[in-house]
Amino acid sequence: MSQLLTLSRAAQLLGVSRHALQKQIRDGELASQDGMIASKELQRAYPDLRIEDSGVFEKVSPASRGFVKSARERILPTKEILAQRLFGQGNELADARRHLAHYRDLIEVLREKVSTLVRENPSAGLKDIEKTINDGLAALVGDHESIDRVAAMNEVLRVVEAHVRVRPSGHEFFVEGSESILDAALHAGLAPSYGCGNGNCGLCKARVVEGEVRQVRDFDYPLSEAERAQNYKLLCSHTAVTDLVLEMIEAETPADIPEQQVVARVKNVSSLDERTFLLHLESPRTNRLRFLSGQRVTLGIYSNRADCRGNYAIASCPCDDRNLSFHISRAQAEAGDEFAACLFAGGVHAGDSVNVRGPFGDFVLDQKSPRPIAFVCCDLGFAPVKSLVEHALAIDSFPAITVCWAATRPGGQYLANQCRAWADALDDFRYVPLDAPDDAAAGRAAVAALADDVPGVADRDVYVAGNEAFVSAATAALQAAGVPKERIAAMEL
Ligand code: FES
Repeated sequence: MSQLLTLSRAAQLLGVSRHALQKQIRDGELASQDGMIASKELQRAYPDLRIEDSGVFEKVSPASRGFVKSARERILPTKEILAQRLFGQGNELADARRHLAHYRDLIEVLREKVSTLVRENPSAGLKDIEKTINDGLAALVGDHESIDRVAAMNEVLRVVEAHVRVRPSGHEFFVEGSESILDAALHAGLAPSYGCGNGNCGLCKARVVEGEVRQVRDFDYPLSEAERAQNYKLLCSHTAVTDLVLEMIEAETPADIPEQQVVARVKNVSSLDERTFLLHLESPRTNRLRFLSGQRVTLGIYSNRADCRGNYAIASCPCDDRNLSFHISRAQAEAGDEFAACLFAGGVHAGDSVNVRGPFGDFVLDQKSPRPIAFVCCDLGFAPVKSLVEHALAIDSFPAITVCWAATRPGGQYLANQCRAWADALDDFRYVPLDAPDDAAAGRAAVAALADDVPGVADRDVYVAGNEAFVSAATAALQAAGVPKERIAAMEL
């Protein structure tokens, strides 16, 4: 019997994106049943699929898709979890063998009885039944091609990672190694409820509806008796032993995430180009900032007896919430931004403490939209766009992405290599760099550059980021090109 696989698992086995499979289903090239795909159907559609070249043992980093881990580097669960999973699969195998033996005996008995009836009364109908049974058994014995390779590959993956389905959203993700369920959900681009990440606040509690979990760290938060009876668990303190179904709270809008204050350490300050710094902050494991991609924060540092503050878009993905990155330009320092001035004056060093307050803003992905996306940005507007792109790639459910990055000075696309790497690695990802004399011209030129997109810009959700003149010109051009106002999200820097 064929195994039914979720879309995420099927995409993983084939090494393709979920939306590529969804397109094949829509185009009638692949049959699905209630959103699941039968392993035999996958094998029919991909007859050349082999375990050694399927990519099953390769891992593509969800945030960047930029590097591929080999099978040998794959993070395995602990021995205890592996043993539990193998024991579970051993039980399933033993059960399947017991059923098979029973059916084989049953078929033999039926065959004997039919043969006896045929000898006593050789009617055409009975002969036909006898032939059907004999042909079926002969075909089964000689049929080496019917081995369900996809199902076998799926069984291997079930040993090294667990699949989690979330209610009520229907989101799915995989738990690798011994990572906590919370971290696995974040890496997959989900926005679960959480706070301390350390077993103290209780904000990450969720109900395990199906499957087994295992504690991976001590926790102090006391679950009530009623919660324990309903199988509530702290996601930051448990990993998945088997595939799970969870009832879990997720943030859907910026209003679902409270303002927070964390103290992070400067991990590194480096130059992106002669006018732009990359500031890399690392927050403590027990006090991480919860945010949505595309949001901003206020950074503050005490330097030269002064409290220096500034507001910046986060340039990193919430799927890697401990590592926060920011792009800060000399133009901001020249415009009077205190924190940027301090940074360009050499007042921010590795190891310094930085106050991070936020998140703010509603320039966030519409995750429920099935439409392709266009990101239109100018100069430093790439910072929130980078966060959004990384998040969109982690979610892996958008059919096509275009990034159009305009610069008002030659070569101002300070992370062009990153954009080209995305375009090289991903189908349906287009990168369009362009230069323009000023912000307003950049806004118009960026929208004109989307004219070659397939599907067209009018069928996309468009995210615009840059200074006021850029956003205003790009928004007007987009509306003139037929993009409805409600499909344009904008951030002015
Ligand atoms: S995040 Fe605080 S207890 Fe899990």
